[in-house]
Amino acid sequence: MSGLGELAPLIDRFGRVARKLRISVTDRCNFRCSFCMPRNPVWLDRSELLTFEEIGRVARIFARMGVSKVRLTGGEPLMRRGIERLVEILSSIEGIESVSMTTNGYLLEEMAERLKRAGLSGVTVSLHSLKPERYEQIVGVPGVFEKVVRGIRRAIEVGLSPVKVNVVITRGCNDDEVLDFAELARRTGISVRFIEYMPFDGERLWRPDLVVSGDEIVRTIQERYALVPLEREPGSTSVNYRFADGAPGTIGVITSMTRPFCSDCDRVRLKADGKLVPCMFSTAEYDLKPLLRGGATDEEIEAFIRSAFWNKFEGVESLLRRHRVPSHVRPMYTFGG
Ligand code: 5AD
Ligand code: SF4
Repeated sequence: MSGLGELAPLIDRFGRVARKLRISVTDRCNFRCSFCMPRNPVWLDRSELLTFEEIGRVARIFARMGVSKVRLTGGEPLMRRGIERLVEILSSIEGIESVSMTTNGYLLEEMAERLKRAGLSGVTVSLHSLKPERYEQIVGVPGVFEKVVRGIRRAIEVGLSPVKVNVVITRGCNDDEVLDFAELARRTGISVRFIEYMPFDGERLWRPDLVVSGDEIVRTIQERYALVPLEREPGSTSVNYRFADGAPGTIGVITSMTRPFCSDCDRVRLKADGKLVPCMFSTAEYDLKPLLRGGATDEEIEAFIRSAFWNKFEGVESLLRRHRVPSHVRPMYTFGG
């Protein structure tokens, strides 16, 4: 069976199995979305970043334990110099079926072709508004909207697949654009995924009343276009819908705050500095760097990963069950979501 390595699967104490590895390759970003970064971020020092060889080694060990999908995140992954070389390393690992990326899209126009050639499968572009001025206000940089749109077009042109768009909807900011995004999906065939605002912003501006729930988003779209739910893939973070009238494109809602799918979560994260983050809603981190740089064997690294993953936090579901609001853990730019 594909995705099953030669070692026993990586499993936690709740029986959840790791299949997807999200790798943050840098904490740096050329944008400044307030829901992700503080105004004055403190960057990691270059020497603290794992090298491509170190990342490749870790990914190979994960692949042997059955992890079959890798997603590169940041900060902004295209800010890491030579990133296509890492894509090439990762996509050639036995057992890795796909390497994809979540990007702000700014450098995609010039990078898309190289990434495709290096073996990148899909790309998800964060596009939080379709109004240029508002978009630029959100990302904190003027004059970039058109370039990001060209980046998305270029990604489609060179055959990256799937190309998706991520939108973080926050109340009072862009919640009036839900239908516009649904229409973007219908017009272009892109799958648009609405993400509930999570408490991982840089300045602790998050408040529960700023969260626009997936239910509310689906309701807003349904008032205009009937939606048909698609079967949810196990481990998927999103609930997806197609348009009942047969229009192309799909809609997804990532309901991490109101209906998280923690019980079949199959993800594990590696931060740019080599720390493993089994669950993003927990402060628990496990530093691989001392092992990688201290001469540990693959078996020792494997054992370390197994014990870290075994202790993975149960998840937001367990907080909601106890009627607790998930609180700020770490800002998004430090681990890539
Ligand atoms: N809540 C929800 N999503 C966020 N993202 C960044 N910060 C937040 C937040 N606080 C988005 C990014 C990207 C994805 C990984 O998460 O824009 O699309
Ligand atoms: Fe950069 Fe993405 Fe964070 Fe925005 S959300 S600041 S584009 S890493």
